[in-house]
Amino acid sequence: MTGGFRAVEISDRVYWVGAIDWGIRNFHGYLTSRGSTYNAFLVLADKPTLIDTVKAQFGDEMMARIASVIDPSKIEYIVSNHAEMDHSGFLPEAIARLAPSKVFASSQGCDALDRHFHLGHPFEALKTGDSLELGGATLKFVESRMLHWPDSMLTYLVEGGVLFSNDAFGMHLASGERFADELDRALLREEATRYYANILLPLSPVVRAFLEKVPSFGLDIRMIAPDHGPIWREDVGWIIERYAEWAAQKPSRKAVVVYDSMWGSTAKMARAIGDGLAAGGARATLMPLDAAHRSEVATEILGAGALVAGSPTMNGQIFPTVADTMTYLEGLKPKNLVGATFGSYGWSGEATAHLDEWLKRMQIELAAEAVRVKYVPTGADLEACRKLGLAVAEKLPR
Ligand code: FEO
Repeated sequence: MTGGFRAVEISDRVYWVGAIDWGIRNFHGYLTSRGSTYNAFLVLADKPTLIDTVKAQFGDEMMARIASVIDPSKIEYIVSNHAEMDHSGFLPEAIARLAPSKVFASSQGCDALDRHFHLGHPFEALKTGDSLELGGATLKFVESRMLHWPDSMLTYLVEGGVLFSNDAFGMHLASGERFADELDRALLREEATRYYANILLPLSPVVRAFLEKVPSFGLDIRMIAPDHGPIWREDVGWIIERYAEWAAQKPSRKAVVVYDSMWGSTAKMARAIGDGLAAGGARATLMPLDAAHRSEVATEILGAGALVAGSPTMNGQIFPTVADTMTYLEGLKPKNLVGATFGSYGWSGEATAHLDEWLKRMQIELAAEAVRVKYVPTGADLEACRKLGLAVAEKLPR
């Protein structure tokens, strides 16, 4: 396919040749309510080089964008910064169609690509400090293990100071604009926060260590070109500062109350807890799971100080939607939280005990004893819920 799609020059002789996925809403369990982009980049030099590819079904669009600025058969190298298939899905086809002389990845990336595609292709391994002369352009490489996969690597173009950062500093946001400074700042903050909370939160110690090491790489970063969402140009410092802020996981006076309900009793308890939290000076965000997606809960948890979890007991267990979200949250390893649990029941009422154990396993300090109500809460039961909210608020930082 040629025509219809054009490359976009983002820096001198550097082109965006990616794809915009306006329709994706489920990105391996993360609600991508504004779609996404798969950014790939073409560096024109004596040895034209493609940095990353796109999700397989968008490969023809990428090829058309490349063909708008260069005969694709002239591409000499491909650099694969990350093997996850939203960036490497089209790689096997790109290798077949472009026949590059070399395909580069980190050492773990070479292994990951081999195990994904079983091509028997001789990928060439790069490590931190390596550089590649393209003739008129120079690439330098920094391994960024666990940002967010073991294979992750950053590529830096000396000319123009462009850091191709792969998933780091990205967001899931489909837009016609290619640069962050062309978009609304509140929108950028919302989507970048959501991305960090759902992708990078459990890796916050790695993010902190990496940010501390960045000056030692000796890179003059003037542009950050991630593989998802807009490119940071005038606001490189802003997104780096946000990463430092989010990675610190400093608790606030915000409490997230996450729950589901079978016949409205647990929901009524949640609302009374919310009133108690507010009366105690906390900012309460109630997230009923028949309305909120697990990834929205994760986003609210980033920067919160408390997680209050509520569930009815169903067949001796936590209600399935609550278990789903708790499983997701546990994997994201939020830190520095206090919490409490609540729920109504009909027979045996095990859910709050299960939830207490769950919070303890997540190293969340319990601020109050669980409130458990048989069937429908009385006024006194709701007063107990209010007190639970006050007790949680009392534990939040001033
Ligand atoms: Fe965007 Fe880890 O892939």
